[in-house]
Amino acid sequence: MPDRTLETRWFHLCTVDDLANPNAFVTTRVGAVPLVAQNIKGRVAAFRNVCTHRFAVIHGEPSGCGPLRCPYHGWSFDADGVPVGLPFNPTDFQLEAEGRRRLALHPASLAYCGRLAFIRAATEGASLEEELGTEIFARLAALSDAFPQHGDAVEPAGDWERIEDANLRVALAPGRMAVLHSAAPPGADDRFSRSFTTHPATADAELPA
Ligand code: FES
Repeated sequence: MPDRTLETRWFHLCTVDDLANPNAFVTTRVGAVPLVAQNIKGRVAAFRNVCTHRFAVIHGEPSGCGPLRCPYHGWSFDADGVPVGLPFNPTDFQLEAEGRRRLALHPASLAYCGRLAFIRAATEGASLEEELGTEIFARLAALSDAFPQHGDAVEPAGDWERIEDANLRVALAPGRMAVLHSAAPPGADDRFSRSFTTHPATADAELPA
């Protein structure tokens, strides 16, 4: 039985497209833990969204585009979470390489199901596929691959098929579109909920069974 405590649970965060551009980031909060997934020079990594200097939240917005840089004293972090840009380091911090490595951001976990990105506070635990179950995992992966185009959320019709798992609700009009809604994880406010509609790449695309 997988551990279902909050920190070891996976939560749907966004799509791969939301993190595709350099400096793109998406944040959430799981319980008391702020989390961020960030593209840093083409590599996407997940961390606790908390600066290791004086524990300020680094990115305050639910999503955006900007370097992983703390707003307080300007430390910026590389894709391993190590602070690499420290304004006034020679006079104020005097951190050499080893000291910087010790102040690396706490890593979080990121996993993909097709084009859907999920985040978890803990670095260890059940895989995303184990947690969702093989059948749901395969269906969501196929759905997100077959319906890669994004648009604003529309109201699902009553007779559409529903798939629900993790914090994700999917309303599916087979062959036409799917509406995805990610509820904000426990501890996060509604700013961290996300809804969007996905469409087939081409008019004749088919959703795998
Ligand atoms: S609190 Fe982040 S750089 Fe000081």
